[in-house]
Amino acid sequence: MRVYLETFGCQMNELDSELVRSNLLSLGYSFVDRPDDASVILFNTCSVREQAEQKAWSRIGIVGQRKKAGEKLILGVLGCMAERDGLDMLRRHPQVDILCGPGELDRLPHLLGNMRSITDDRPARADRVALAGNSNRRTATLEAAQDGLEALDLSRSFDPAHSLAGKASAYVRITRGCNKFCTYCVVPHTRGAEVHRPPDHIVDECKRLADQGVIEVTLLGQTVNHYRYTHGRALTIEGLELPQVGPGLSAFRTPLGGASAGSGAAGDRTTTFADLLFRIHEEVPALQRIRFVTSYPRDFSDEALKVMAQSPRICPYLHAPAQSGSDRILKLMNRGYTVTQYLEFVDRAFKIVPDLSLAGDFIVGFPTETDADFEATCDLVRRVPFKNNFIFKYSPRPGTVAYDRIPDDVPDEVKRWRNNRLLAIQSERSAEVHASWVGRTLPVFFQDTRSIRRAPIAAGAALVGATIEGLAPATQPAPEVNGIGSWQAIGRTAGDLIVAVPAATVADADALVGSIRLVRITESGDLLLKGQFA
Ligand code: 5AD
Ligand code: SF4
Repeated sequence: MRVYLETFGCQMNELDSELVRSNLLSLGYSFVDRPDDASVILFNTCSVREQAEQKAWSRIGIVGQRKKAGEKLILGVLGCMAERDGLDMLRRHPQVDILCGPGELDRLPHLLGNMRSITDDRPARADRVALAGNSNRRTATLEAAQDGLEALDLSRSFDPAHSLAGKASAYVRITRGCNKFCTYCVVPHTRGAEVHRPPDHIVDECKRLADQGVIEVTLLGQTVNHYRYTHGRALTIEGLELPQVGPGLSAFRTPLGGASAGSGAAGDRTTTFADLLFRIHEEVPALQRIRFVTSYPRDFSDEALKVMAQSPRICPYLHAPAQSGSDRILKLMNRGYTVTQYLEFVDRAFKIVPDLSLAGDFIVGFPTETDADFEATCDLVRRVPFKNNFIFKYSPRPGTVAYDRIPDDVPDEVKRWRNNRLLAIQSERSAEVHASWVGRTLPVFFQDTRSIRRAPIAAGAALVGATIEGLAPATQPAPEVNGIGSWQAIGRTAGDLIVAVPAATVADADALVGSIRLVRITESGDLLLKGQFA
């Protein structure tokens, strides 16, 4: 059967899709690039903001029309929308055949098998199948801590012909779920409670990826620095370690900046986040870049920062969202820190980690956000040398505390204005941060062809926004701009700064894929650096 799989949303979803894909490939399914060529269409969905859901709804609608017109197709909705809408989606959207939440992805082949036998034998539309709507966090957690999801992670295909396809960069999950319950966020509701993978599983996965030519791994967790595994607590009867439900936030309730934050209690043998980073760095020397996202700004131990500072292949990069610069809004968001505490963390991080790059996220227009609250956010962006920030308009999410308790009272045009204003301030900040790198010679990683075939861009010209999302792939070589050739290769520094280097031909640019090269930085703008090979 030919499968089309489309992914919406975050890096966690991209990894989930990769695992689903390699799982189905090993069972004899094949994958196609266009929905029109497929008999099974799978959407791996995201519920973090309404916009992401709407995109998925429009795709689901198109498949519905094809089915109405008589095409025999299986439509599966995977991921957070499946979890959030549950059986309601099957009732309201008869074109959906399969629902499979993020905590059930290991069972997708079984669901597809069921569905195929139904559609093969009879055209009945009533017997659709679902494994989701598992809104009971406790059940979801226990299941996740048992073996289903871990088996999916462990079954990752290392066959380059399958999932990796010669990629030099890969994601590795270290933690599932989230315990934070920020009041705006659906993630704790859709992905369940925090569950940590055994360190041996993670290190082994990194080794196997490195054996296949991967030189960069990005460790994934919603609050990645909360990683903590206490040995000997959860074992199979054969004595093998199992994923472990997180210890809860009390484990981190030590004074901010305290050297012991996140370390084990007396007598426990615990692998902390710092220990895990160190193990991967020491035990997988073939990995040239070890990165991690997303950090929760509280509870980041000095130990982890020191490991970053002392380990040359751990990237000096933090994505640590502040979300707001107003203490009142941070409290309403249940973020658990004040602006002063965020600034203390940033200060500590910059002191301990040389050449640190810092990125983050902000939400504008959170309910009750006043002009003064927003100004405080602008001040924070002016004070902290963020290299970039992802800026989102608040999107009320059913099921969250903010949705239930605080009316979405900031008008959309105000949200939009604040979004643009903060982007403009961030652009100035990014330009300053980038300018400080001019004249340095840095290793730059050229990740894949997708990032290479881009038109030349004059520094800072015609580009708005503070993220690389504004860069559209070029299909034609663009005319020469500012002395830079017809093509340019785009890579990233260890601190995740984007660097453009001229390439005479597409073949020259392609030849760089998967390599790390030294580049002398000659120019900078708000979105990227430019340089020449050293
Ligand atoms: N509305 C807007 N942005 C949100 N985010 C999470 N939930 C919402 C929401 N309801 C943003 C946060 C988070 C990022 C992944 O998405 O900034 O860090
Ligand atoms: Fe959502 Fe907050 Fe958890 Fe991040 S830390 S996933 S924003 S609840």
